[in-house]
Amino acid sequence: MSKTPNKNWRPATTLVHGGTLRSQYGEMSEAIYLTQGFTYDSSEAAEARFKGEEEGYIYARYGSPTNDMFEKRMCALEGAEEARATASGMAAITAALLCQLKAGDHIVAARALFGSCRWVVETLAPRYGIECTLVDGRYLENWEKAIQPNTKVFFLESPTNPTLEVIDIAGVAALANQVGARVVVDNVFATPLFQKPLELGAHVVVYSATKHIDGQGRSLAGVILSDKEWVTEHLQDYYRHTGPAMSPFTAWTLIKGLETLPIRVKQQTENAGRIADFLADSDKVAKVIYPGRKDHPQADIIAKQMTGGSTLVAFELKGGKEAAFKLQNAMEVVTISNNLGDTRSIITHPATTTHKNLTDEARAELGISAGTVRFSAGIEDPEDLLEDFAQALAKISA
Ligand SMILES: Cc1ncc(COP(=O)(O)O)c(C=O)c1O
Repeated sequence: MSKTPNKNWRPATTLVHGGTLRSQYGEMSEAIYLTQGFTYDSSEAAEARFKGEEEGYIYARYGSPTNDMFEKRMCALEGAEEARATASGMAAITAALLCQLKAGDHIVAARALFGSCRWVVETLAPRYGIECTLVDGRYLENWEKAIQPNTKVFFLESPTNPTLEVIDIAGVAALANQVGARVVVDNVFATPLFQKPLELGAHVVVYSATKHIDGQGRSLAGVILSDKEWVTEHLQDYYRHTGPAMSPFTAWTLIKGLETLPIRVKQQTENAGRIADFLADSDKVAKVIYPGRKDHPQADIIAKQMTGGSTLVAFELKGGKEAAFKLQNAMEVVTISNNLGDTRSIITHPATTTHKNLTDEARAELGISAGTVRFSAGIEDPEDLLEDFAQALAKISA
C-alpha cells in the first residue's frame, strides 16, 4: 500500500510521498498513531522483539509509526541513512553532541552559535568534564589551531544566527577527518533544500524542525540525521534511555509541513531577496547581509556549498536601538517575534532578545550591534512586504 521512495525522485516529490506507511485502511493522509506503546501476539513474539530478532515497535520513547514516517521522509530529503525525531531543536543538538562525548573529550565550536547552543557547549558540557574551544569559524586556520589530541567533535551552524556568517563545511570536515573527529552541523538557517552537509563531508546534521520544516508556528520539534553506524554506535541508546522523543502528533504536523516545504521556502527566499535589495538601497540602513547577494562577504563559499540564498536577512540600521525599535513597532504586516522560517514574516532585535545573554564583547565579535535587525521572510505577497518596510522606514529618522 505504501509507495517505495525512489532514489531518483526530486525533493518536491520525495516530500509528498517519501516514507508514507499506509495502514490496512488505505488512508490518504498519514495516520497519527498516538500510542505510548505496542502489543505482542505472544510471549515469544515479545521476547523476539526485545531481542531485536523480530521487526516492530516496542515503546514510543524508542520509536513509533508516525515518527517513523517523518524520520524516513527526512532521510530521503537529506540523503541520510537514519534519523531520530526529538521534542525540540535543542533536544536534537544536545543529544547529537552528548551521545558521542565523555569526560576528558574536547569540542571545537564556532563562536557564532544560537544562544542556547552556546550555553550547551560553554556551560553545560564543562560540568561533565567536556571542554570546549570557541573559534571564529569563518577562517579554517582557527579550527586547525584549536585542535587538541582529545578533540572529538567540531560543531557549527551555517549560515549563522543572526548575522548570516558562512562556514566552509567541506573545509572543516577535511580537518576533522585528519584527526578522527566528527562534524555536527546545525543546518537550520540553510534549510535541507539549500545545503546538504552530509554531502559536504559532515557526519551529523541537526535541525530545529520548529523552523521551516513545520513552518507554520504550530510545533516545537527537532531531528538528528546521520549514517546507520553512527546512530547505532552513539545515538540509539542515548535516545532510548534519556527520552528526548517527539510526540506522534508533532511528527504528523511535520509530515504535513514537509509536503509544502519547497513551495514555502521558494516564496520565502524570493521575498527575502527582494527585501534585502530594497534595504540595501535605503539611506537609513548601514549594512545588509544576505547570502543571496553578491556583496555577501563570503560569496565564494556560498557559491560552493549552497544552492539558494536564504529566507533570512540581517541588516543594521544607522540609528541603533532607537531606530530598530521604531521600525519594528511600525511594521503592520511583519510581526515581532523570535521564531523564524514561518509562513508569517517575522522581525527580531537580537541584541535585546535572542542574543541578550551574551556579553557586549561577545555580541560585538559576532557583528551584532544595537542597530542589528533580523528579518525572517514569510510567504506573503512581496509587494505588501515592500510597502510595509517602506512605510516603517519612513517613520524613523536617518
Ligand atoms: C540556529 C538554531 N539552532 C537551534 C535552535 C533551537 O531550536 P528549538 O527552539 O526548536 O529548540 C534555534 C531556535 O531558535 C536556532 O535558531
